[in-house]
Amino acid sequence: MNIKIVDHPLIKHKLTIMRRVDTGPKEFRELLKEITLLIGYEATRHIKLFETEIETPLEKTKGYFFNDKDVVIVPILRAGLGMSDGILQLLPNASVGHIGIYRDPESLQPVEYYAKLPKLNDSSLIFVLDPMLATGVSSAKAIEILKENNGKNIILVTLISSPEGVEFINKQHPEVIIYTASLDRKLNKKGYILPGLGDAGDRLFRTK
Ligand code: URA
Repeated sequence: MNIKIVDHPLIKHKLTIMRRVDTGPKEFRELLKEITLLIGYEATRHIKLFETEIETPLEKTKGYFFNDKDVVIVPILRAGLGMSDGILQLLPNASVGHIGIYRDPESLQPVEYYAKLPKLNDSSLIFVLDPMLATGVSSAKAIEILKENNGKNIILVTLISSPEGVEFINKQHPEVIIYTASLDRKLNKKGYILPGLGDAGDRLFRTK
Protein backbone atom coordinates (compact mmCIF):
# COMPACT_ATOMS: atom_id res chain seq x y z
CA MET A 1 0.00 0.00 0.00
CA ASN A 2 1.29 3.41 -1.00
CA ILE A 3 0.56 5.11 2.33
CA LYS A 4 2.62 6.82 4.98
CA ILE A 5 1.11 6.82 8.45
CA VAL A 6 2.61 9.66 10.42
CA ASP A 7 2.97 7.94 13.76
CA HIS A 8 3.68 10.44 16.54
CA PRO A 9 2.49 10.77 20.16
CA LEU A 10 1.29 14.35 19.62
CA ILE A 11 -0.83 13.26 16.67
CA LYS A 12 -2.24 10.23 18.51
CA HIS A 13 -3.21 12.38 21.49
CA LYS A 14 -4.84 15.11 19.41
CA LEU A 15 -6.66 12.63 17.17
CA THR A 16 -8.09 10.85 20.21
CA ILE A 17 -9.68 14.13 21.32
CA MET A 18 -11.01 14.77 17.82
CA ARG A 19 -12.64 11.34 17.68
CA ARG A 20 -14.58 11.83 20.92
CA VAL A 21 -18.25 12.46 20.33
CA ASP A 22 -18.37 15.24 22.94
CA THR A 23 -15.57 17.34 21.41
CA GLY A 24 -17.05 20.63 20.17
CA PRO A 25 -16.39 22.50 16.90
CA LYS A 26 -13.87 25.01 18.28
CA GLU A 27 -11.57 22.33 19.63
CA PHE A 28 -12.21 20.10 16.61
CA ARG A 29 -11.14 22.88 14.20
CA GLU A 30 -8.06 23.78 16.23
CA LEU A 31 -6.96 20.16 16.48
CA LEU A 32 -7.47 19.50 12.77
CA LYS A 33 -5.25 22.48 11.99
CA GLU A 34 -2.59 21.34 14.46
CA ILE A 35 -2.55 17.74 13.22
CA THR A 36 -2.42 18.89 9.60
CA LEU A 37 0.63 20.96 10.46
CA LEU A 38 2.28 17.92 12.02
CA ILE A 39 1.43 15.63 9.07
CA GLY A 40 2.55 18.47 6.82
CA TYR A 41 5.99 18.35 8.41
CA GLU A 42 6.42 14.84 6.95
CA ALA A 43 4.51 15.39 3.71
CA THR A 44 6.65 18.41 2.81
CA ARG A 45 9.75 16.24 2.65
CA HIS A 46 9.04 16.16 -1.09
CA ILE A 47 9.74 19.86 -1.47
CA LYS A 48 12.69 20.62 -3.70
CA LEU A 49 15.55 22.49 -2.05
CA PHE A 50 17.81 24.92 -3.84
CA GLU A 51 21.36 25.51 -2.72
CA THR A 52 22.57 29.01 -2.01
CA GLU A 53 25.52 30.75 -0.40
CA ILE A 54 24.99 32.92 2.65
CA GLU A 55 27.15 34.75 5.13
CA THR A 56 26.86 34.20 8.85
CA PRO A 57 28.48 36.83 11.12
CA LEU A 58 31.57 34.56 11.01
CA GLU A 59 31.94 33.15 7.50
CA LYS A 60 30.40 32.16 4.25
CA THR A 61 28.49 28.90 4.19
CA LYS A 62 26.09 26.85 2.12
CA GLY A 63 22.37 27.33 2.75
CA TYR A 64 19.13 25.92 1.40
CA PHE A 65 15.78 27.36 0.50
CA PHE A 66 12.61 26.20 -1.11
CA ASN A 67 10.22 28.04 -3.34
CA ASP A 68 6.79 27.61 -1.84
CA LYS A 69 5.34 29.58 -4.76
CA ASP A 70 5.53 26.23 -6.59
CA VAL A 71 3.30 24.64 -3.96
CA VAL A 72 -0.42 24.31 -4.58
CA ILE A 73 -2.82 23.34 -1.84
CA VAL A 74 -6.15 21.94 -2.92
CA PRO A 75 -8.71 21.38 -0.17
CA ILE A 76 -11.67 19.31 -1.27
CA LEU A 77 -14.78 21.22 -0.21
CA ARG A 78 -15.92 21.37 2.33
CA ALA A 79 -14.11 19.40 5.06
CA GLY A 80 -10.73 19.89 3.36
CA LEU A 81 -11.00 23.59 4.24
CA GLY A 82 -10.26 22.64 7.83
CA MET A 83 -6.79 21.51 6.77
CA SER A 84 -5.70 24.48 4.62
CA ASP A 85 -4.51 26.73 7.45
CA GLY A 86 -2.22 24.03 8.85
CA ILE A 87 -0.36 23.66 5.55
CA LEU A 88 -0.42 27.42 4.87
CA GLN A 89 1.29 28.02 8.18
CA LEU A 90 4.20 25.95 6.87
CA LEU A 91 4.05 27.23 3.28
CA PRO A 92 2.58 30.74 3.42
CA ASN A 93 3.22 31.55 -0.25
CA ALA A 94 1.46 28.48 -1.59
CA SER A 95 -1.43 28.92 -3.99
CA VAL A 96 -4.78 27.55 -2.94
CA GLY A 97 -7.15 25.89 -5.40
CA HIS A 98 -10.57 24.57 -4.47
CA ILE A 99 -12.43 21.55 -5.72
CA GLY A 100 -16.02 20.95 -4.71
CA ILE A 101 -17.12 17.35 -4.73
CA TYR A 102 -19.91 15.74 -2.82
CA ARG A 103 -20.66 12.11 -2.46
CA ASP A 104 -24.08 11.09 -3.68
CA PRO A 105 -25.56 9.40 -0.60
CA GLU A 106 -27.31 6.74 -2.70
CA SER A 107 -24.70 5.77 -5.28
CA LEU A 108 -21.66 6.94 -3.22
CA GLN A 109 -20.36 8.34 -6.53
CA PRO A 110 -18.54 11.71 -6.67
CA VAL A 111 -20.31 14.74 -8.12
CA GLU A 112 -18.12 17.73 -9.05
CA TYR A 113 -19.81 21.07 -8.44
CA TYR A 114 -16.89 23.52 -8.28
CA ALA A 115 -13.27 23.77 -9.42
CA LYS A 116 -11.08 26.86 -9.28
CA LEU A 117 -7.39 26.09 -9.68
CA PRO A 118 -4.24 28.13 -10.16
CA LYS A 119 -2.18 27.47 -13.28
CA LEU A 120 -0.35 24.16 -12.82
CA ASN A 121 3.00 23.29 -14.39
CA ASP A 122 5.64 20.55 -14.15
CA SER A 123 7.17 22.18 -11.04
CA SER A 124 3.89 22.41 -9.14
CA LEU A 125 3.88 20.31 -5.99
CA ILE A 126 0.24 19.72 -5.20
CA PHE A 127 -1.18 18.79 -1.80
CA VAL A 128 -4.76 17.55 -1.98
CA LEU A 129 -6.47 17.90 1.40
CA ASP A 130 -9.32 15.65 2.45
CA PRO A 131 -9.57 14.74 6.15
CA MET A 132 -11.58 11.54 5.71
CA LEU A 133 -10.37 9.11 3.03
CA ALA A 134 -13.46 6.88 3.07
CA THR A 135 -14.42 5.21 -0.23
CA GLY A 136 -11.71 7.27 -1.92
CA VAL A 137 -13.96 8.24 -4.83
CA SER A 138 -13.97 11.99 -4.02
CA SER A 139 -10.19 12.17 -3.65
CA ALA A 140 -9.67 10.07 -6.77
CA LYS A 141 -11.98 12.39 -8.69
CA ALA A 142 -10.12 15.48 -7.39
CA ILE A 143 -6.80 13.95 -8.46
CA GLU A 144 -8.30 13.18 -11.87
CA ILE A 145 -9.39 16.84 -12.23
CA LEU A 146 -5.88 17.99 -11.25
CA LYS A 147 -4.29 15.66 -13.80
CA GLU A 148 -6.64 17.02 -16.49
CA ASN A 149 -5.30 20.47 -15.55
CA ASN A 150 -1.65 19.46 -15.96
CA GLY A 151 -1.08 18.45 -12.32
CA LYS A 152 1.77 15.96 -12.07
CA ASN A 153 3.28 15.83 -8.58
CA ILE A 154 0.36 15.10 -6.35
CA ILE A 155 0.34 14.18 -2.66
CA LEU A 156 -2.86 13.32 -0.80
CA VAL A 157 -3.01 14.45 2.83
CA THR A 158 -5.74 12.96 4.99
CA LEU A 159 -6.44 12.74 8.70
CA ILE A 160 -8.06 9.30 8.82
CA SER A 161 -7.98 6.70 6.04
CA SER A 162 -9.91 3.52 5.48
CA PRO A 163 -8.26 0.45 3.94
CA GLU A 164 -10.90 0.56 1.17
CA GLY A 165 -10.07 4.19 0.34
CA VAL A 166 -6.33 3.58 0.30
CA GLU A 167 -6.77 0.59 -2.00
CA PHE A 168 -8.97 2.63 -4.35
CA ILE A 169 -6.49 5.53 -4.59
CA ASN A 170 -3.56 3.14 -4.98
CA LYS A 171 -5.38 1.47 -7.87
CA GLN A 172 -6.61 4.64 -9.62
CA HIS A 173 -3.51 6.77 -9.01
CA PRO A 174 -0.61 4.49 -8.00
CA GLU A 175 1.98 7.29 -8.10
CA VAL A 176 0.15 9.40 -5.51
CA ILE A 177 1.54 9.06 -1.99
CA ILE A 178 -1.02 9.24 0.80
CA TYR A 179 -0.05 10.82 4.12
CA THR A 180 -2.41 10.12 6.99
CA ALA A 181 -2.57 10.18 10.77
CA SER A 182 -4.43 6.88 11.07
CA LEU A 183 -5.45 3.86 9.03
CA ASP A 184 -8.77 2.89 10.60
CA ARG A 185 -10.57 -0.47 10.53
CA LYS A 186 -13.15 -0.32 7.74
CA LEU A 187 -16.14 1.46 6.21
CA ASN A 188 -19.68 0.90 7.38
CA LYS A 189 -22.59 0.38 4.97
CA LYS A 190 -23.14 4.13 4.63
CA GLY A 191 -19.51 4.77 3.70
CA TYR A 192 -18.46 6.12 7.11
CA ILE A 193 -15.09 5.18 8.52
CA LEU A 194 -15.04 2.97 11.65
CA PRO A 195 -14.13 3.91 14.31
CA GLY A 196 -13.56 7.27 12.56
CA LEU A 197 -14.92 10.49 14.00
CA GLY A 198 -18.25 10.87 12.21
CA ASP A 199 -18.81 13.48 9.53
CA ALA A 200 -15.80 15.80 9.56
CA GLY A 201 -17.63 18.57 7.67
CA ASP A 202 -20.56 18.54 10.07
CA ARG A 203 -18.26 18.59 13.06
CA LEU A 204 -16.15 21.45 11.66
CA PHE A 205 -19.09 23.62 10.68
CA ARG A 206 -21.71 22.42 13.17
CA THR A 207 -24.21 21.51 10.52
CA LYS A 208 -25.85 18.70 12.45
N1 URA B 1 -16.64 11.56 5.41
C1 URA B 1 -16.64 11.88 6.73
O1 URA B 1 -16.66 13.05 7.09
N2 URA B 1 -16.56 10.86 7.61
C2 URA B 1 -16.52 9.57 7.26
O2 URA B 1 -16.46 8.70 8.12
C3 URA B 1 -16.55 9.28 5.87
C4 URA B 1 -16.61 10.28 4.98
